[in-house]
Amino acid sequence: MKGKVVVITGATSGIGEVAARELAGMGARIVLVARDVGRGEAVLAQLRGINPGVEHSAHYADLSLLSEMKKVSSEIAAAQPRIDVLINNAGALFGFRQVTDDQWERTFATNHMAYFVLTLGLRERLIGARARIVNTASSAHKGRSIDFDDLQSAKSYSPFDVYGRSKLCNILFTRALAKRLAGTGVTANCLHPGFVATRFGGQSGGIMQRVVELAKSLAAISEEDGARTIIYLASSPDMALASGEYFYKCKVETPTSEALNDADAERLWQISARITGLN
Ligand SMILES: NC(=O)c1ccc[n+]([C@@H]2O[C@H](COP(=O)([O-])OP(=O)(O)OC[C@H]3O[C@@H](n4cnc5c(N)ncnc54)[C@H](OP(=O)(O)O)[C@@H]3O)[C@@H](O)[C@H]2O)c1
Repeated sequence: MKGKVVVITGATSGIGEVAARELAGMGARIVLVARDVGRGEAVLAQLRGINPGVEHSAHYADLSLLSEMKKVSSEIAAAQPRIDVLINNAGALFGFRQVTDDQWERTFATNHMAYFVLTLGLRERLIGARARIVNTASSAHKGRSIDFDDLQSAKSYSPFDVYGRSKLCNILFTRALAKRLAGTGVTANCLHPGFVATRFGGQSGGIMQRVVELAKSLAAISEEDGARTIIYLASSPDMALASGEYFYKCKVETPTSEALNDADAERLWQISARITGLN
């Protein structure tokens, strides 16, 4: 990874933070996308401690806001002539339905739209480097299907369902993306990290927060173990060609039939393109 440029979201905490540290340790130059300056600078300081000669950097954006997703991807595209790895990893669970200032349901915006906008906004930089795109999805997609008539969960909101659907979107997006990138040398894969003891769900509010905290105390794996598949997809020579796949524990897994539905993947792409004005 020496000399490679890795753009990563959600690296101020949890599995993203571990992945950023490990990839920096392999020699990569890390470009963080974070929303909180204090947390971003704290991670940058750690990264600089790992390899002081490398110019790690951070860009700041609230990835639940379309305007900020677009702004930060333009900033990064202007600052980085080439990007070798893009890791879309920032994500959250919200205990109650929330609507962003630009009027999108917050889970869909943060967990799906930000992946779409960052990837398309950085596409030329990724193609130039024959890059790898790594999308953090989840086994929470299981048992979920997309309701195209209610993508914004306005009719009904159940936190785990809405979260699970957003993670289903991550897999469908990865498949549609891999198809579009075929022949460019860029690969796109997604993964389930396992159930990991991170800050995830800790700010979701209400009963959800207590359920997640209890489950984590009983059954979760460490952040280091949770980050392994991200690091593998980003850096392993074995992963130079794989594309469009869903991984768990560094191995290809078959997701649900809903996640393999290419008609839904295409429909989601077209809707996302319309919402964001990118294609
Ligand atoms: N933990 C699990 O068991 C588990 C299981 C399956 C999948 N996942 C997925 O793994 C990914 C990483 O989660 P984690 O478990 O490492 O959780 P985490 O510790 O809560 O980390 C989430 C990261 O996303 C960032 N983030 C959240 N909302 C953001 C926004 N609006 N703008 C910019 N950054 C934002 C957070 O920034 P701040 O530091 O500012 O909060 C943090 O860096 C997520 O996509 C999640 O869905 C997690």
